[in-house]
Amino acid sequence: MEESLAELAQLAHTAQIDVLGQIHQKVEHIDSATLIGKGKIQELLDLVDEREADAVIFDEELSPRQQREIEERLEERFAEQWPEKSVQALDRTTLILDIFARHAHTREGALQVELAQLQYRLPRLTRAWTHLARQAGGTAGGGGTGGVGLRGPGETQLEVDRRAINRRIDHLKQELENVRTHRALHRQQRQKAGVPVVALVGYTNAGKSTLLNTLSGADVLTADMLFATLDPTIRRVELPNGRHVLFSDTVGFIQKLPTTLIAAFRATLEEIGEADLILHVVDITQPNVMNQVQAVKDTLAELDATGKPVITALNKIDRLNNPVEIQKQIQEFPNSIAISALTGQGTDDLLARVERILLAGMVPIDVLIPYSRGDLVALAHEKGIVEHEEHGSQGTRVKGRVPPQIAASFQT
Ligand code: GTP
Repeated sequence: MEESLAELAQLAHTAQIDVLGQIHQKVEHIDSATLIGKGKIQELLDLVDEREADAVIFDEELSPRQQREIEERLEERFAEQWPEKSVQALDRTTLILDIFARHAHTREGALQVELAQLQYRLPRLTRAWTHLARQAGGTAGGGGTGGVGLRGPGETQLEVDRRAINRRIDHLKQELENVRTHRALHRQQRQKAGVPVVALVGYTNAGKSTLLNTLSGADVLTADMLFATLDPTIRRVELPNGRHVLFSDTVGFIQKLPTTLIAAFRATLEEIGEADLILHVVDITQPNVMNQVQAVKDTLAELDATGKPVITALNKIDRLNNPVEIQKQIQEFPNSIAISALTGQGTDDLLARVERILLAGMVPIDVLIPYSRGDLVALAHEKGIVEHEEHGSQGTRVKGRVPPQIAASFQT
């Protein structure tokens, strides 16, 4: 629990929220109205009062009713001496959604987050949320509902808001559909080209973007904040043998990643399922490293992305004082390699390992290619490894290995 609360505090920090205090309770029965018990609510109100907090964040998910009830208690508390004060009751999911919203830097990411936010908020709409419909009408895409809209006869403001949000949700779904069709097309092209794909996965802040920068020399956004990466960013990386592979950066994983979010990002995360190899980046300097590794594995299992070859990159070794320590760690993680994404230490070995595993996944060919199909010989050289080549009277005999995606082209 302490770890989970510490992570919540870190998430709050990422959302630029100062943590003023913490309380916790062990409960036998969840109170369906306020989650925590009556006495604890009182303690919470006192703490909010004393520290002059603007929000309370629960590590557990709040039901719409619980959120409403807690906010009402808070309102009552300050009604007399501080009527304009409004204290929000939030939960981990709302916080994560907010962080995702700040870090969405592609169109698909922005659409996914807005949709997840609206779907999460819809059943939680209270009077306090009346500003939302305006937001919903005015954000990404522009083609929204155009504001709160006119109230129909007998309709409450809440109903108007709900209607506006539902319209926006429909619109977002449509837009996402368009973006996805586009992306599927790109993916098909990549597959046809036979370029292997390595998916970077890892707990948030493990150093995926930094590694991608170091490997590709590209300027992918990094920040010492959770979730700097929200969208898969694809970069070309050269392997020691001169061939190119694509590395795709994915969204950072997190413990208790809400299932609504996994659903929202499913399409993005599906890229992982398409990869030839998974590169799991682990921040070895974290005291709770094993939990983080497990959180990543659980998420991969939930995405049905198990069963692919995995390399574990134990990152940030530049921060370790004791080099012996890392040797022990390497033995604990199968197929692992120690690196520093920041200094580049170990990254050559890492790429050599990637190359070796991709090679092992290639399909052996031994074919006679007629001279009229010089393009196939060129293809074998470009995408595969040609071990032997001989020109005869019938054509060119090529022996070697090619990526599975293009192996069919060589079948006679
Ligand atoms: P998300 O986008 O949240 O998933 O994070 P990420 O895994 O892409 O992490 P990112 O590359 O943004 O790195 C997080 C922080 O760790 C940054 O401050 C990096 O500078 C730092 N970092 C990454 N790799 C190393 C490393 O090898 N050594 C050290 N000392 N710091 C590193």
